[in-house]
Amino acid sequence: MLDTVQTLSAAAVEAPYYLPTGDECAVFDAAYRNKLPLLLKGPTGCGKTRFVAHMAAKLGLPLTTVACHDDLTAADLTGRYLLKGGETVWVDGPLTRTVRQGGILYLDEVVEARKDVTVVLHPLTDDRRVLPLERTGETLEAPDDFMLVVSYNPGYQNIMKTLKPSTRQRFLALEFDFPSPDREAQVVAAESGLPLERVKPLVLLAGKLRELKGQDLEEGVSTRLLVYAASLIRDGMPVMKAVEACLLQPLTDDAEIKRGLDDLAVALLG
Ligand SMILES: Nc1ncnc2c1ncn2[C@@H]1O[C@H](COP(=O)(O)OP(=O)(O)OP(=O)(O)O)[C@@H](O)[C@H]1O
Ligand SMILES: [Mg+2]
Repeated sequence: MLDTVQTLSAAAVEAPYYLPTGDECAVFDAAYRNKLPLLLKGPTGCGKTRFVAHMAAKLGLPLTTVACHDDLTAADLTGRYLLKGGETVWVDGPLTRTVRQGGILYLDEVVEARKDVTVVLHPLTDDRRVLPLERTGETLEAPDDFMLVVSYNPGYQNIMKTLKPSTRQRFLALEFDFPSPDREAQVVAAESGLPLERVKPLVLLAGKLRELKGQDLEEGVSTRLLVYAASLIRDGMPVMKAVEACLLQPLTDDAEIKRGLDDLAVALLG
């Protein structure tokens, strides 16, 4: 469990760089001020996690991130009795801790979690804003500076893994997508240190690769992979080598499709 939870105190971090693609910062701000939970959806590597880290730091709130997985239960979030030195003591989970102390709890890939997780989220995400702890008999009221943020990637959902409408309709929702080519080039240049003019052809290739989503590819290339490629080029790796390792190989295991991607890369960059 420990390796899937990360907490950053507000004082420890300067707001990490985030280039907005629309009015998402204002929506986040409004959600926080109105004590509403927020759902972020969008493809992998498009900036959701970075956005939450940026907003938490700007609002001066500690951020606890939980990477959800299919073994994650409600007790992993709320807490459990543990045996310590012969005594049974209650130990808060990350959700309970954040409700007690305030701050943002961010559940990444929330659809992966077990179904019983939604049961503890429901009373927290409507106007009650309470967390009932059955095991201790407590009912905690969330403080004004508590905010729940969840995210998921709709592309990876299957019919078994989707949020029920009764859960989904408790959240304000923001859809994320890759930034426009100009903005994405700015992001990749800022993150990698590679000059803008050298980043632009990579972004152009990414746009073409994204057009193959749903036909040959399950997912298009992410901004994250573009940052990887640009960073390696900045570090001295030849362009085509970095493109191969960062932008093409991660996308497919199918040899024939891969040849098609190689041809596209050579046509654009070769
Ligand atoms: N708008 C942006 N501003 C600054 N950096 C960005 C932006 N969008 C993407 N990035 C860069 O892309 C990387 C990946 O973004 P991030 O980790 O936030 O993706 P994600 O949407 O959370 O993906 P996943 O669904 O896989 O968790 C970041 O580390 C950052 O370098
Ligand atoms: Mg993420």
